[in-house]
Amino acid sequence: KVHRIASIPGDGIGVDITVAAERVLHVLAKTVGGFEFDFTTFDWSSEKYRERGWYMPPDGIDQLKKFDAIYFGAVGSPDVPDHISLWSLILPIRKSLNQYVNVRPTRILPGTTSPLSALSTTSSHLDWVMIRENSEGEYSGQGGTSHSDTSYAVATEVSIFTYVGVSRIMRYAFETARSRPRKKLTMVTKSNAQRHGMVLWDKIFYEIAAEYPDVETDKMLVDAMTVRMVLHPESLDTIVATNLHADILSDLAAALSGSIGIAPSSNLDPTRENPSMFEPIHGSAPDIAGKGIANPVGAFWSAAEMVRWVGEGSAADMLMQAVENVTAAGVKTKDLGGDKNTEEVTTAVCEEIELR
Ligand code: NAI
Ligand code: MG
Repeated sequence: KVHRIASIPGDGIGVDITVAAERVLHVLAKTVGGFEFDFTTFDWSSEKYRERGWYMPPDGIDQLKKFDAIYFGAVGSPDVPDHISLWSLILPIRKSLNQYVNVRPTRILPGTTSPLSALSTTSSHLDWVMIRENSEGEYSGQGGTSHSDTSYAVATEVSIFTYVGVSRIMRYAFETARSRPRKKLTMVTKSNAQRHGMVLWDKIFYEIAAEYPDVETDKMLVDAMTVRMVLHPESLDTIVATNLHADILSDLAAALSGSIGIAPSSNLDPTRENPSMFEPIHGSAPDIAGKGIANPVGAFWSAAEMVRWVGEGSAADMLMQAVENVTAAGVKTKDLGGDKNTEEVTTAVCEEIELR
């Protein structure tokens, strides 16, 4: 069986880690047998944008629709304003392909240390999955400015929350919580200060909770949630939050698990009418781009989630086991306290896979 993958390396370390992920996926397919990956690379990047004035061609979304899945590196360059790069590539893909769920798991991998272990007051047990609303809310793109060239008098950034949008993400979160051993779901809002959209979130949460009596629920305000993540990480399991809140909380989650360089994400269209997209949560990291030292673990973990999504569950498990054996053996990049580069970690993961 051939799985057709659209590959968008993008900018900066997005390129390094996409090359690494493709290499590992080819070795995985060859070792497991019975399937292969056929990658088609799209050179949609900030560099090309400066040359030709566009990131994605007008039929870009239609081109992507032909694939079984999309693998994405990162987009963003110091030479292009970030709101242009984000709104020209990653956000239109997520929205046009109905990828309304963003799944962000966090665990402490063997051989790595959480910064929490330095806090004697805190347990460093941490095994979360964050479900981020990925289609509306604070990133709906609505609003405007009343500015002239010389003054910016007022700007609005309008959040949009719909019954359909909120209930489908809640349902996905309850299903995720139910599938995990602790069956526990924490919902995050800011419904004390934000009295419309966030109150809608609360209401829909309790409405859907009634359909899942086996799932234990609780509710947090986002500010207090940051404290709980640091001081009582063991008390959390599945978490559901809005587009903005989960964006922020998942970066914190990644940092608490050791490095933003290990954290994966899946942008899913659960209806499977459109391809889903898999990408590490980190950005293009201009500060380390071109040095060959980016941590590829988040890219491998994202690749494993893609492998699972296209139906190769045991190969996905094998890939994650290989990654964990490599971190456990101390083969790590600098952000995890190691001294290896991207290529050395990648080679180690390939060798682990081939040992099986
Ligand atoms: P970033 O995630 O690119 O970097 C933050 C810090 O973490 C930097 O010090 C970087 O060196 C380090 N880091 C990130 N990934 C790493 C890895 N794999 N290995 C080792 N160290 C790693 O976030 P930042 O600096 O806020 O954004 C840089 C650019 O990326 C901006 O243009 C931003 O808009 C874009 N961005 C794009 C995203 C995407 O494509 N989905 C997501 C986040 C940011
Ligand atoms: Mg983010």
